[in-house]
Amino acid sequence: MSIKSDAELQGMKAASDAVAIVLAEMIKYAAPGMSTKELDIYGEKMLKKYGAISAPKKTYNFPGCTCISVNNEAAHGIPRKNVILKEGDLVNIDVSAVLKGYCGDNGSSFILGRDLNNLQPLVDASQDILMKTIKMLKPGTKLSTIGAFIEKAAKKKGYTTIKNLTGHGIGRQLHEAPHHIPCYNDRFNRKRIQKNAVIALETFISTGARYVDQQNDGWTFKTRDGSFVAQHEHTLVVTDKGSVILTKKNGIA
Ligand code: CO
Ligand code: CO
Repeated sequence: MSIKSDAELQGMKAASDAVAIVLAEMIKYAAPGMSTKELDIYGEKMLKKYGAISAPKKTYNFPGCTCISVNNEAAHGIPRKNVILKEGDLVNIDVSAVLKGYCGDNGSSFILGRDLNNLQPLVDASQDILMKTIKMLKPGTKLSTIGAFIEKAAKKKGYTTIKNLTGHGIGRQLHEAPHHIPCYNDRFNRKRIQKNAVIALETFISTGARYVDQQNDGWTFKTRDGSFVAQHEHTLVVTDKGSVILTKKNGIA
């Protein structure tokens, strides 16, 4: 949506605060030996505390409250009792929720404990590229320009970007127009960012993959070649005076 009133801005801020704080709390809570289900249950309790409810569950009947993807899973990982987190794992938590009719969406990859697989540079690249992309955004920026910027920045650091996972517009619904903000130069995409648009910008940076496959569980996206994917996501408003990051309370911005 495009923000047209202060009430809308305040609504988006409140929903974004909730997901950002819950994401930060979940990252702190995650520990080796814990199942991703246990981590998700903690997230669900935290969202409840802020009066928010899981957006993927409400919108898509996702079998969990938050998406937790580990190592070569790139997105939409289902929290499971039999997925036990280990030191050195590349973990992605993506929290999206509805609060008083507005949606917030916030995701982050991180290394659990010591960086045993030397993946911190990938995580740092994804975070850095997200922040640089947010800085270059203006009302009127073409979606293809955003994708080209992300792809080029990733390539410079020796990484690829995933073509079939994207950022998106957000507002009253978790996914709104523009429905796909890709991480590559989609030359045929002529869409532009509208003034005061609220978007969930997402990076999908990989050690080698360009596509991910949906697994038989109907949700989890995984790389085919075992390469790793890091994602960082902020919900933000694109204004004439620069972008306002609504999910900065996660402390990662
Ligand atoms: Co998300
Ligand atoms: Co999103």
